[in-house]
Amino acid sequence: MGEKVDNLVKITDQEFEIIRKIMYEQTGVFLRDTKKTLVVARLRKRLAHLGLTNFEQYIAILKSRDKKEVETFINAITTNETNFFRHPKQFELLLSRILPDLRAHKTQSGQKSLCFWSAACATGEEPYTIAMLCREFFGDDPSWTVRIYASDINSDVLAFAQQGVYAPRSVREVPEKYLKKYFQKQELDSAHGKEERYKITDDIIRQVQFRQHNLLTPFVVNHIDVVFFRNAMIYFDDTSKRDVLKRIYHNMASYSYIFISLAENLPYRGALFEFIGMGIYHRTG
Ligand SMILES: C[S@@+](CC[C@H](N)C(=O)[O-])C[C@H]1O[C@@H](n2cnc3c(N)ncnc32)[C@H](O)[C@@H]1O
Repeated sequence: MGEKVDNLVKITDQEFEIIRKIMYEQTGVFLRDTKKTLVVARLRKRLAHLGLTNFEQYIAILKSRDKKEVETFINAITTNETNFFRHPKQFELLLSRILPDLRAHKTQSGQKSLCFWSAACATGEEPYTIAMLCREFFGDDPSWTVRIYASDINSDVLAFAQQGVYAPRSVREVPEKYLKKYFQKQELDSAHGKEERYKITDDIIRQVQFRQHNLLTPFVVNHIDVVFFRNAMIYFDDTSKRDVLKRIYHNMASYSYIFISLAENLPYRGALFEFIGMGIYHRTG
């Protein structure tokens, strides 16, 4: 019996270091050693697609600043896991505490508008959840304007998000009431038979403005009342975290909130942001 031959394209430690450096410079994301197998598996597919036989050739393309390939590289490597109502307790607090507080604050200063930013929105479940909760809170009150911006560096996930059509696993935490009100169930024919999909209602889709944006660069919208910056910092090292957070701080209104995930720590806690509870912070000053 002959030994099984491993045909996979090999990556040297030095090549992985270069890949890691390019990703870090482009996005602030630091590829930890634990991610190596996953990253290399994803890139092997890309090499095969381009007809390349080794990583040296691929690195040469990335280093030539081929913008399209760098974008495809980033799209292949970022982790875009998300779902509707992820960390549901935070959304309960948004509805029961943060929105009433902001409405009172804004009403006092005579401004009937609110601005949200989902600052690493992946496939869009987070900003659409915000849109549904704002609809619940304000109803059809025409005197209030709600703007919701959603951004990500990954152009593939943004294109997906704008369709507003999701698989059952994305809606697994959606309360029944919201599922009935804001989704239309569809059945698709696929190679595996019938598949369920959930399409968001058009008025919720229209509520969210998607933009491609790299958090290492300035975001054009200012005076934002609530920022959702959840489950992105975990991929950054301390330097990128601090850099991004300082930038986000300047996009926020002086009286505003930021939500991070329960697994994350916020730099500048106490200095720029005051802890409220449940991954929610108030901007100071
Ligand atoms: C795990 S998803 C988070 C989705 C959502 N916020 C949530 O909590 O469910 C992380 C997202 O961060 C994005 N990301 C990573 N680096 C980025 C950068 N430099 N600028 C903008 N987005 C970035 C990835 O493309 C990915 O979609």
